[in-house]
Amino acid sequence: MTYKLLLLPGDGIGPEIMMEAKKVLLWLEKKQGITFEISEDLVGAASIDQHNVPVRDDVVEACRQVDAVLFGAVGHPKYDGVEYYDRRPELAILKLRKELDLFANLRPAKVFGALANASSLKSDLVSGLDLMIVRETTAGVYFGEPRGIEQRDGQRIGINTHTYTESEIKRVAEIAYSLSEQRAGKLCSMEKANVMDAGKLWREIVEGMKSDYPQVELSHMYADNGAMQLVRQPKQFDVIVTDNLFGDLLSDLASQLTGSLGLLPSATLGPKKSDGKFVALYEPVHGSAPDIAGQGKANPIAMILSLAMLLKYSLKLDKEAEMVEKAVENVLDKGLRTADIATPDSKVISTSEMGDAIVTALN
Ligand code: IPM
Ligand code: MG
Repeated sequence: MTYKLLLLPGDGIGPEIMMEAKKVLLWLEKKQGITFEISEDLVGAASIDQHNVPVRDDVVEACRQVDAVLFGAVGHPKYDGVEYYDRRPELAILKLRKELDLFANLRPAKVFGALANASSLKSDLVSGLDLMIVRETTAGVYFGEPRGIEQRDGQRIGINTHTYTESEIKRVAEIAYSLSEQRAGKLCSMEKANVMDAGKLWREIVEGMKSDYPQVELSHMYADNGAMQLVRQPKQFDVIVTDNLFGDLLSDLASQLTGSLGLLPSATLGPKKSDGKFVALYEPVHGSAPDIAGQGKANPIAMILSLAMLLKYSLKLDKEAEMVEKAVENVLDKGLRTADIATPDSKVISTSEMGDAIVTALN
């Protein structure tokens, strides 16, 4: 079986951590007899530098032609000052989500046994934690119109619009319900139905689907309370479904429960086509970290776990996905640490040493 993959390493630490994911791909080819047809392209600041746009249209098109896309990170301080909708590296990921209709962003937050002490919360609150945030990523305030900064009554006004259609809510809720069925059967939907009309509709739609998933126990929470409950007692949650903006905030918050943003993978899935296939993009939750780029300090684990999600969700290589996850767990159990998850007594290893250790653990 040959699988087509498109790699988009991006900026900052993106290329370094992608290099480590490639080692795992190479291992899978050598030892598991899987063939990958791999292409690679520029996104983010790297693409602006070369092509003047954060992502070219032919790269967007190429994403549709492959079995899955593996994405590094985008963002570079040299473009911090530029006009938002023009030449911001971040536009690369927003455009890919929108144009490819990648609406369901799965962000697991799992605490590895060896790292329960790395969390900023007491270890008994987080040990064994395994939750999944399903964030909507094609609508809401990120994309609503009208938007912009206008002159009104002698001063400027910043405008963004938050909208959700019934079908946008329904399709992401379907993914969350299905995941809940495969997991602990507990789904919590978060919005601000007490303040926002789109939140009210969100709650109504999610509630209305309950009878289609009788095995799933559904609850609703206002997102502010949800944030509080996530740090108070995170293990009360299994799957959380929420909108684009709340999901952005809550998934960053959840990442710290695990000890490091450097550990968290994500999958963003598009709608199923008639042949059952779907466009999907896999990326670490963390950003491009330009402050540590090129120094061999970055943690490649989020990238490698994103590859594991790719193997599982897009290629249905469940066994291989599990092998990669186990290998990561194994190196963490051995005490191997990159700087971001190091304790005063641990020996710190580099990005490439971590990648090598994971490949060794695969053997
Ligand atoms: C994320 C990021 C993006 C977002 C940025 C880079 C546009 O924070 O994927 O969580 O806000 O969605
Ligand atoms: Mg974010």
